[in-house]
Amino acid sequence: MHFSTFVLCLGLGALVKCAAGSEWCYTGCEYTPSKWKDISGSFCGEKRQSPVNIVPSHVVTDPNLGNFTFVNFSSQHAIKSIENNGHTVKCKLKDNEVEVSGGGLNGTYSALQFHFHWGDTKHHPGSEHTIDGHRYPMEMHIVSLRKGLTVQEAIEKSDGIAVLGFFINATEDGNMSGPWSMLTSYLKNVTDEGDEVNINHNISIYDLIGNVDMTKFYRYMGSLTTPSCNEAVAWTVFQEPINIHKDLVQLFPQDAGLTNVFRPTQPLNGRQVFASPATPLPPSPPWCYDDHCDYTPSKWHLLPQSYCGGERQSPINIETKNAKTDIHLDEFTFTKFDDKHAIKYITNTGHAVKCVLKDNLVELSGGGLGHVYSTLQFHFHWGTTSHDSKGSEHTVDSKRYPMEMHIVSKRKDLTLEAAIKTPNGLAVLGFFIESKVTTKSSSSSSGHETTNPSSSSASSMEYWKKLTDHLHAIQNISSNVSVTAELSIDDLLGSVSRKSYFRYNGSLTTPSCNEAVVWTVFKESIEVDESLMKMFPTYAGYNDVFRPSQRLHSRTIFTTSASTSPGPILMSLLLASLCAIFL
Ligand SMILES: *[C@@H]1O[C@H](CO)[C@@H](O)[C@H](O)[C@H]1NC(C)=O
Ligand SMILES: *[C@@H]1O[C@H](CO)[C@@H](O)[C@H](O)[C@H]1NC(C)=O
Ligand SMILES: *[C@@H]1O[C@H](CO)[C@@H](O)[C@H](O)[C@H]1NC(C)=O
Ligand SMILES: *[C@@H]1O[C@H](CO)[C@@H](O)[C@H](O)[C@H]1NC(C)=O
Ligand SMILES: *[C@@H]1O[C@H](CO)[C@@H](O)[C@H](O)[C@H]1NC(C)=O
Ligand SMILES: *[C@@H]1O[C@H](CO)[C@@H](O)[C@H](O)[C@H]1NC(C)=O
Ligand SMILES: *[C@@H]1O[C@H](CO)[C@@H](O)[C@H](O)[C@H]1NC(C)=O
Ligand SMILES: *[C@@H]1O[C@H](CO)[C@@H](O)[C@H](O)[C@H]1NC(C)=O
Ligand SMILES: *[C@@H]1O[C@H](CO)[C@@H](O)[C@H](O)[C@H]1NC(C)=O
Ligand SMILES: *[C@@H]1O[C@H](CO)[C@@H](O)[C@H](O)[C@H]1NC(C)=O
Ligand SMILES: [Zn+2]
Repeated sequence: MHFSTFVLCLGLGALVKCAAGSEWCYTGCEYTPSKWKDISGSFCGEKRQSPVNIVPSHVVTDPNLGNFTFVNFSSQHAIKSIENNGHTVKCKLKDNEVEVSGGGLNGTYSALQFHFHWGDTKHHPGSEHTIDGHRYPMEMHIVSLRKGLTVQEAIEKSDGIAVLGFFINATEDGNMSGPWSMLTSYLKNVTDEGDEVNINHNISIYDLIGNVDMTKFYRYMGSLTTPSCNEAVAWTVFQEPINIHKDLVQLFPQDAGLTNVFRPTQPLNGRQVFASPATPLPPSPPWCYDDHCDYTPSKWHLLPQSYCGGERQSPINIETKNAKTDIHLDEFTFTKFDDKHAIKYITNTGHAVKCVLKDNLVELSGGGLGHVYSTLQFHFHWGTTSHDSKGSEHTVDSKRYPMEMHIVSKRKDLTLEAAIKTPNGLAVLGFFIESKVTTKSSSSSSGHETTNPSSSSASSMEYWKKLTDHLHAIQNISSNVSVTAELSIDDLLGSVSRKSYFRYNGSLTTPSCNEAVVWTVFKESIEVDESLMKMFPTYAGYNDVFRPSQRLHSRTIFTTSASTSPGPILMSLLLASLCAIFL
């Protein structure tokens, strides 16, 4: 994009020499683009520069990028004049008539002008932005200032200026008598720097934009693309190009006497490019646990938008001797964990079996979390079908358990998008699962367990059977089945103690591994028959779906104090009294 020398001088006043406009160029003068940074008072060497190469596979959808509102884009009299300013051809708009708002912009912007960037008569393309390295023949920029701001005020704000960028594509069969033919007919009236003529044809901005779908666009924060390269621009780059006849594209270098008027792309320097929800993005590449794809766990950090290489990753090995007692780790409050109709459906994601809960029903608070969390889903990690298979994600003193269940909740006051970007946006409860036979803690109550299984364990197994009965229906990846059986989360957790747990700050254990999780890993494991555990790998069709342990780095693991959990004797007394009540 480009401001005329006039506007720059007006805006920057004494700060920049008014001769600046004649000192820079694209080719053939002292200050070519690689030297713009040396122009006094310029920002061209800073870190938030434009244009950029947009890589759609690295773009993130932003649900806040809603529809634009355009005012007077259909006005046939808003385009006042066309001018050659020595760097480009610019069409001036009537003052305070054309406006743009919405589209995730903060406020209303008043459009001043639009101008073009192009290549040369040998068909070298000349757009400023590129898509996956592809340069379009031309680019049009509609430049607007935040309403109510002067140019000087606008260039000092990070989003004082909004530019709408449109790619222009050259086609074989475009209209040779439409609006673009009218507009380009003026190019031969502005062949020299300083030439300016009024536009007498009735052409609207919408006429020029044609049928570009304006709900599909990219957004990032950048700069002016000409000196002084002020970092004040909220950029919009529309995904679909304006298609015009190649012979009309050719008129820009031919008639205006300027060629290759575009700045090379600038580094993103960690900036994120966002896309409106309607913008189609390529699917992210597949990741996996074994070696049947390119992105195995050791390469997850290379995936686009991945946090998997961070220093707050999960799962971890919990070393009990290093866990610090924290008296603030009190009891949880479980809301609707006993609701027998809370599970909406069960699905095979291709990486796990997941039970999705009904919206805004099940909640979690207390337990030192400090917020109310809304429970979204629970899912499982497992090993193989072999007898001694181990497939938990967390390990305790290097012991890996047969399976692990994760109950995932998000902070109730945040949207999911916000939660995954907030350090405590998610809370996950991790429960180890092991089979009865391998439980060694049964010694104190062995008589009871072996001769006559407690009714609570027996009924718990009945619930696990209810759950695993659904697995045969989701053998195909991405398939789902609704859960009609009466089954609550409490039913599945059974009598496992929920007062005794470890706590640490970590991440999701699958890509993008967002470091947004407050982890709770319970010390007691849920007991499930081995035959039922085997059904997960058998029906899902894949094995060993757990991520290897990640380094702790500087984190601390906290633990509830030992005395808060009932000892084994008290526990069996408790069970006995429960049995007494129910039998
Ligand atoms: C945005 O515009 C598109 C098409 O113009 C329309 O289908 C969609 O409903 C609009 N979205 C909103 C949130 O208004
Ligand atoms: C749109 O343009 C008309 C003149 O064509 C003008 O009267 C009107 O104020 C403009 N609308 C806005 C919101 O500026
Ligand atoms: C929007 O602009 C106003 C001032 O014009 C500012 O106070 C506010 O923080 C901005 N909001 C965002 C989200 O940038
Ligand atoms: C650009 O124009 C070429 C030639 O007509 C065409 O093949 C191509 O599909 C167009 N690209 C887009 C994105 O419309
Ligand atoms: C070309 O544009 C003119 C004026 O807008 C219109 O009348 C005509 O139908 C268009 N022709 C084609 C082939 O689209
Ligand atoms: C543009 O130039 C042509 C001659 O090339 C002339 O006939 C026409 O009047 C000029 N238009 C304007 C608006 O000056
Ligand atoms: C432009 O529009 C005005 C009315 O808004 C009309 O009087 C005039 O004839 C139109 N000019 C052309 C060249 O179509
Ligand atoms: C799995 O997919 C196959 C076809 O791909 C289909 O025939 C079969 O019915 C599906 N099974 C289930 C349980 O959905
Ligand atoms: C469940 O599967 C059906 C097709 O079998 C599909 O249409 C539906 O979108 C899926 N539901 C969810 C929530 O994934
Ligand atoms: C998690 O991180 C937050 C912020 O850094 C800190 O206040 C909190 O104590 C940490 N919690 C644990 C369990 O380490
Ligand atoms: Zn998990």
